[in-house]
Amino acid sequence: MNNALGEIRAPGPLVNSGNLIGIFDSGVGGLAIFRAIREVLPHHELAYFADSKYCPYGNRSSAEIVARAMEVSGFLVGLGAQALVVACNTATVHAVAALRERYGMPIIGIEPGIKPAAAISGSRRVVVLATPRTLESSSVSQLRDLHGSGTDFILQPCPGLVELIEAGQIEEPATMDLLRRFVRPVIEGDADAVVLGCTHFIYLEDKIRMLAGRDISIIEPSRAVAAQLARRLASAGLGASTNGLIEDRFFTSASNPVLISAVASRLLCRDIQMLGVDDQAQNTAA
Ligand code: DGL
Repeated sequence: MNNALGEIRAPGPLVNSGNLIGIFDSGVGGLAIFRAIREVLPHHELAYFADSKYCPYGNRSSAEIVARAMEVSGFLVGLGAQALVVACNTATVHAVAALRERYGMPIIGIEPGIKPAAAISGSRRVVVLATPRTLESSSVSQLRDLHGSGTDFILQPCPGLVELIEAGQIEEPATMDLLRRFVRPVIEGDADAVVLGCTHFIYLEDKIRMLAGRDISIIEPSRAVAAQLARRLASAGLGASTNGLIEDRFFTSASNPVLISAVASRLLCRDIQMLGVDDQAQNTAA
């Protein structure tokens, strides 16, 4: 890759016993998708990459997001991934087309659940919580044109929220204060459905429900993504390992893998050790 961001040195193919699935996000958000995939596909090898050094993607330019998605995917494919999951709305809406052009393998992305929200909303008012860059994308306007007619979509960017989650500050008052501000349009706008259009926000589902009211419908993508991946793997003939020895592997571009591992372990309630990868930054702006 030749751009102003960084290049990841891949360690070479993993010695794995089955078909490896590569999953990535800008940080810990996509681990919520990882968790759902692990439940649905207990016998597949999974490798997860948290591109923490470049997080949040949601404040970056489209070109930067594409460059990082290419770089991280190259790393995962270098490990031997036979399929990719872009566990990030921001990376999907900006980069999944380029990834599909480069790699002839199943690539599953995540877009804000505009279609299910339109189908479920009785008041015909839906709030979409996502990163600024996701909400600006043409994918979101296309989804609205295709599936959202007759429904009023309130697009609520959530700057600052991803950073708090990355820092493990789920329970802190600052997070609740920010969330309260972002959920306000749900209450004031008479919306009855909320789309979690950023994988980081999956960890806040209970809090959003508490703030918005128990009757609110929350569109959360993890199970649907895992089911879609399982279908695509089956039709591509990418079966699971047969010897039963499955090891989850986690990688990060974070300068301090210990910190991000601690946050990840807390969020998933299991021990997660992220391996730091060598990311050769081309300049210091990243
Ligand atoms: N978790 C990501 C998403 O679903 C991106 C968050 C960010 O890096 O801004 O959009």
